[in-house]
Amino acid sequence: MKGFKFTISGAGSTYTPELIEGLAQKKESLPVREIMLHDIDEKRLDIMEGFCKRYVKELGLDVTINKTTDLARAVEGAYFVNTQIRVGGNEARVLDEKIPLSHGLIGQETTGAGGFMKAMRTIPVMLNLAKTIEKYSPDAWIVNYTNPTGLVSEAVTRYTNAKIAGFCSGGIFPKMWAKKSMGIEYDRVRYDYVGLNHMNFIYNISIDGRAATEEEFIHIAKANPEIDLELVKLLNAIPSPYLQYYYHTHRKLDQFKNAQYTRGQQVMMMEKEIYSAYADEKISTKPEALNKRGGGGYSDVAMGFLDAVYNDQDTWMIVNVPNNGAVDFLPDSAVVEIGCLVNGVGMQPLKVKNVPPMVWGLISEVKNYEQLAVEAAVEGDINKAKLALMAHPLVRDYNLIEKMLPELMEANKAYLPQFYK
Ligand code: G6P
Repeated sequence: MKGFKFTISGAGSTYTPELIEGLAQKKESLPVREIMLHDIDEKRLDIMEGFCKRYVKELGLDVTINKTTDLARAVEGAYFVNTQIRVGGNEARVLDEKIPLSHGLIGQETTGAGGFMKAMRTIPVMLNLAKTIEKYSPDAWIVNYTNPTGLVSEAVTRYTNAKIAGFCSGGIFPKMWAKKSMGIEYDRVRYDYVGLNHMNFIYNISIDGRAATEEEFIHIAKANPEIDLELVKLLNAIPSPYLQYYYHTHRKLDQFKNAQYTRGQQVMMMEKEIYSAYADEKISTKPEALNKRGGGGYSDVAMGFLDAVYNDQDTWMIVNVPNNGAVDFLPDSAVVEIGCLVNGVGMQPLKVKNVPPMVWGLISEVKNYEQLAVEAAVEGDINKAKLALMAHPLVRDYNLIEKMLPELMEANKAYLPQFYK
């Protein structure tokens, strides 16, 4: 049979059409014959199937669109399985945002106590998915966007033999910033990148193979407005936007306390609008409302990976991979988000050099948290959950953890069978 099968698990996500668009743009080099949509939400799946069928026609992509709620059927024979699930939906996300905030902490979907609860809900489901792939499609690549992507990648590599590449659009943020601020095309920009998902730093930026000038560096840094420019200059490295929760903690807390809606609530409102467009049989192109959703760039990264692997093209990409000595201050087993050489064989992490002073402590602390959190999620061990939160620089306080954790667990009970055996 010619071409390959591409499965999307969590296909009810509003992002699915962007993947379809990416496949259409690369149809010469990526001969996809079947796109399998998988989700547990039948209503969303039906709407997405209808929209995708209209959309591929519009794009001139000759492909069969199928859908299923059965995971084994979804993954069987797939070459790539793109995972983008959200266990508990945005309703659970809103609790991740609100409960920590009510205890005076940053409430955010991937960071701090909120990110921890998302990991507890998500890791068992992703392990089941990976084990199903191991059984029915052992050669398939998992292209993961499920957050928290670093912890998910760590759990899957540690507890299964499935092949996983963990991604985040953050890996191409410097390219996006250079394009936005100076119109420079992606492939002209290179950089060093060290850390974890949502805990990383970018430095030694080069354009066309020469070091970026100070002026260019500042233009790029300014396109990441969540982090103060003076702070970037002090570090001589650009922190991920998620470092705003660590370096501007009080400012963020004030913003969160004064906001009418959490980000999760805003996303839910946008999704309503986007979904009503997807359901409209007259609409066969990406709806305008999708632009408001943001978070673009996934498709670019995913298609870059597919191209590199399927066509055995040596490509430099930022991926969440086991360290294996690439970052010398972290254990070999730790999953890190760093530059890799990707090709038909898979991913080879590249040695990270010249790490800026002062960043390794924070990265190590968060990795320590992540490894404990993964174990807590797998073992359903409440004591490990406490230790993980104590290791997290945004939580840490023991008395607060004793007070907040029971509330978080109770609110998520339906999604935590491993803790309530
Ligand atoms: C960025 C982050 C992702 C996040 C996405 C959408 O790309 O790196 O982890 O999922 O934004 O965030 P949103 O708040 O719009 O759901």
